[in-house]
Amino acid sequence: MDPLTGTHALALLGIALLLLLLARFRRRGRKQHNLPPGPKPWPIIGNLNLIGPLPHRSIHELAQRYGPIMHLRFGSYPVAVASSVEMARAFLKTHDIAFAGRPKFTSGKHTNYNFKNITWSQYGLYWRQIRKMCLTELFSAKRISSHEYIRKEEMQALILVKDRLASLSLNVISRMVLGRKYTDEKEDAIISRDEFKRILDELLFLSGVYNIGDHIPWLNFLDSQGYIRRMKKLWVKLDNFLQHVLNEHIERRQRLEEKFVATDLVDVLLEFADQPDLDVKLERDNIKALTQDLLAGGMESSSVIAEWTLTEIFRKPEIFKRATEELDRVIGKERWVEEKDIPNLPYIRAIAKEVMRLHPVVPMLIPREAMEDVRIDGYDILKGTRILVNIGTIQKDPKIWENPNDFCPERFIGSSIDVKGHDFELLPFGAGRRICPGYPLGILVVESSLATLLQGFNWKLPPGMKARDLDMEEIFGLSTPKKIPLTAVIEPRLPAHLYNI
Ligand code: HEM
Repeated sequence: MDPLTGTHALALLGIALLLLLLARFRRRGRKQHNLPPGPKPWPIIGNLNLIGPLPHRSIHELAQRYGPIMHLRFGSYPVAVASSVEMARAFLKTHDIAFAGRPKFTSGKHTNYNFKNITWSQYGLYWRQIRKMCLTELFSAKRISSHEYIRKEEMQALILVKDRLASLSLNVISRMVLGRKYTDEKEDAIISRDEFKRILDELLFLSGVYNIGDHIPWLNFLDSQGYIRRMKKLWVKLDNFLQHVLNEHIERRQRLEEKFVATDLVDVLLEFADQPDLDVKLERDNIKALTQDLLAGGMESSSVIAEWTLTEIFRKPEIFKRATEELDRVIGKERWVEEKDIPNLPYIRAIAKEVMRLHPVVPMLIPREAMEDVRIDGYDILKGTRILVNIGTIQKDPKIWENPNDFCPERFIGSSIDVKGHDFELLPFGAGRRICPGYPLGILVVESSLATLLQGFNWKLPPGMKARDLDMEEIFGLSTPKKIPLTAVIEPRLPAHLYNI
């Protein structure tokens, strides 16, 4: 035998023995942990083969088999899925702080200024500082009510535009966050409305997408799905836009000097950044990342919810009848519904809850990450595990909800269940430390836009289309909109002079 080949063979044998020992050692190490039940993972991909184009649906099916706490493996990472009220409470309340981390996904890096926004920032000093600012500055009751006139004007504008639900939330959020509609020709547009909408749609899609490299990091460089290329392209457009917005705000501040008053959320962020005693200094990239978060968080959700509501109502016209009876009784037909009327509209509020139950905008919340080892229900959830709270399954659990797949607002009449993160059977905004900070505004916009849409118009399907033909498919991203946009024919319900036409 050639001596070199002999040495090689010995070395190979040695390596093989070492690998075998390591594998045994790892297996034994793993055995000490009692992981929740789940399907057996494949090498390299883990259980990714079981996840289809609508991941929340695949995970719902798996949860039916493996139960309310389930262990999966996405590539190299362990994933724990909570699919019952008790488990949601354990993850989001009892052990909230241990699970308040976020995984470092590629989209947070490439489209969110290297994790500087709220959504993808790690739990810590910076995150705590900006969440506090959300509470005291951005979403305080005072700030929200100071922007009521914007929502009122845009509700009227919607009535003129008629065909575009999305333009309502786009315009409301642009004006509240950025101070003006950068898409409005009359206001020195720098981007077309369609392009702005396309950019935000792409941002939400790429933020929620299952990018292979986020699960199998050594494959990230291949970018086999092309998502990273899309993220980088998107970021150039987003950054150009946000830089322009920021420059304009800084210029206005400098021009007005002491006469300057903060009127929108970018102004508030800039003022906040100037405070000398901040724990973490806010640079330009932080301001841009936070602005982007507010745009993305606020823009999509309420229009997605309005579209699902109308789709459900087409299938059950008696709901429209009951809602308009309530609106006509409480408000009459001589004026538009206002935000102050909402507490007197229990049926409209019940519709809003029911649509957020049946069509949660974020059906598995935004993934969290375990920052330490935790034991739940006798199972070990190890540090670094990615956490999905499967509210889509909880909100349709037949043990909690009668006829769970039926759209039935009546179930909330006289019920004390709310959406603010205390009732774990209904968590459209999440719960605990990472609960949606924009929820006071989100609820307000959803309820008042639904009330306006139902008060102002009779809704009909286009000629030749039947309610049973309505498509109920979804697209998966950071939000879950209808796959095929709803088309409808509308006619005014109120006297003509109220429409400014
Ligand atoms: C109906 C409207 C809305 C719904 C259904 C909704 C839903 C959610 C959900 C489910 C989460 C994840 C919570 C978790 O991880 O546990 C979230 C997070 C977030 N939302 Fe909302 N949201 C809405 C409106 C808004 C608005 C209006 C804004 C801001 C203008 C906003 C900004 C955010 C931000 C920044 C986060 C990340 C929080 C963090 O990671 O600490 N959302 N939202």
